[in-house]
Amino acid sequence: MNSSASPTYEKLISSFLRIVRAVHLYADNNQAVVAACSEFREILRDAAEHGDTVSLQISDGHIYIKGQRLRISSQAASTAESIKLYLTSRAVFGIKWQPETATITPEQIVAFFRILDQSKEQKNPLFWIRECLDEKSFGWVSVESQQDLKVSLPIQSVKENQKKGKSGQGDGQSPGRKARLWEKGLKSYGRSLKILKSIAEKIKSDKPAGVAKALRQIQQIVDIIIADDEIMMGLSTIRDHDDYTYVHSMNVSILTISMGHFIGLSKQFLALLGLAGLFHDLGKIRVPLEILNKPGKLDSSEWKIMQKHSLESVLEILKLKAPPRLKARILLPPFEHHLKYDLSGYPKFHRRNHISLLGSILTIVDVYDAITSPRVYRNSSLSPDAALDMMLDKAGTDFDPLLLKAFANLMGVYPVGTLVKMDSGEIGLVARRPRSQYLDRPQVRILMSNGNGKFVPGKTVDLAEKNGHAGSFRRTVVESFHPGQLGIQPAAYLGTGV
Ligand SMILES: [Fe+2]
Ligand SMILES: [Fe+2]
Repeated sequence: MNSSASPTYEKLISSFLRIVRAVHLYADNNQAVVAACSEFREILRDAAEHGDTVSLQISDGHIYIKGQRLRISSQAASTAESIKLYLTSRAVFGIKWQPETATITPEQIVAFFRILDQSKEQKNPLFWIRECLDEKSFGWVSVESQQDLKVSLPIQSVKENQKKGKSGQGDGQSPGRKARLWEKGLKSYGRSLKILKSIAEKIKSDKPAGVAKALRQIQQIVDIIIADDEIMMGLSTIRDHDDYTYVHSMNVSILTISMGHFIGLSKQFLALLGLAGLFHDLGKIRVPLEILNKPGKLDSSEWKIMQKHSLESVLEILKLKAPPRLKARILLPPFEHHLKYDLSGYPKFHRRNHISLLGSILTIVDVYDAITSPRVYRNSSLSPDAALDMMLDKAGTDFDPLLLKAFANLMGVYPVGTLVKMDSGEIGLVARRPRSQYLDRPQVRILMSNGNGKFVPGKTVDLAEKNGHAGSFRRTVVESFHPGQLGIQPAAYLGTGV
């Protein structure tokens, strides 16, 4: 795929971000807003050159303008990051402006950016934006989902993936390819878990522990997530009572990488994020087991010991045999993972800034995995959708609101790996995100009872399927659970023909 360092394209993203900020702060008729929108229209006209459609798309951590990967200068790097986060937190991965955009009024452009701004408050921002655009008959602009992008960037992506020996993401993959990726993911999961345990054992007995092997596995997981994130997300629902901290750390590592990928972070950052996730609770090896596994509430002295684990994680990471530069780059998120967005968490830390981007991602994923896991001190765990609802109530206090919204969009109404009961009486595991406009209708792998209290995997059905052309839906979710709640490990059921 070509890359471009066109000044016009760089101007386009700077102008885009200026409008985003102006529209958020000021009313539609504000001079600054209208002026920024007329400037944007001029830039679009230049970018269109021969009257082409101008597209701005986000894929694999990069911004593409008119299908060309934008080479970002160091001055524009933070602009690019802000745009990626702004759009992906609204589940928007692409915007297309038709040639007639050059002839429309700045006020109409303001209206489009106002819709984008307000979409943040909506449960399904992308579909809400589309409805608003339809209502206003704005045919000159359209928005694209992550799925649409696989169709609109196909020629380059397929070529690139062929060069890399990959076959692309999602629906474009053959079942054989998917099954192989699943096998690869499962092996990487097992190996990483083993490596993490061995690192913890070595640290406990004051032996030197290196990170090279762990890094290699994490890089492999990054590659699988880039190829097909639903595979690793399915695996991240694995639960293990006996090995809770290690399995939790593995799942957190996978989900932080998935989230980083979703908001467009580079491969290098994804590997750092994955390592930080893997080691974030390493300090728990210094917490006595009777406190770690205490069934009841911790008393104040036990709680004080528990609260030390994030700082202890930093100290343990410092002891690892690894290049100091690498260690320096993975220290901060583990330190920050219980600080909370408003810094009201622990350790008590008085500074004016918010926590870092990677720390904010880790905070969200850590809580999500923890509250969806059954624990000895908690009677029940939450289903993934209930967990997300509960977390959304704490946006702005415990969690960065924009990132939390992006996480909710990544996970969807019923995240991959959720166990669902349907009105047909069947139960099944969410195997894939929805392929239609119905966001609460994913693809589900039916689980059938084998008569001995166990299940065997059946066919995969699309919950958007109807009885007849305009009839009612064949199956609708009536209840959802975390598979761990019923002792079901999705890895055993999602592996073939997903
Ligand atoms: Fe922790
Ligand atoms: Fe944790």
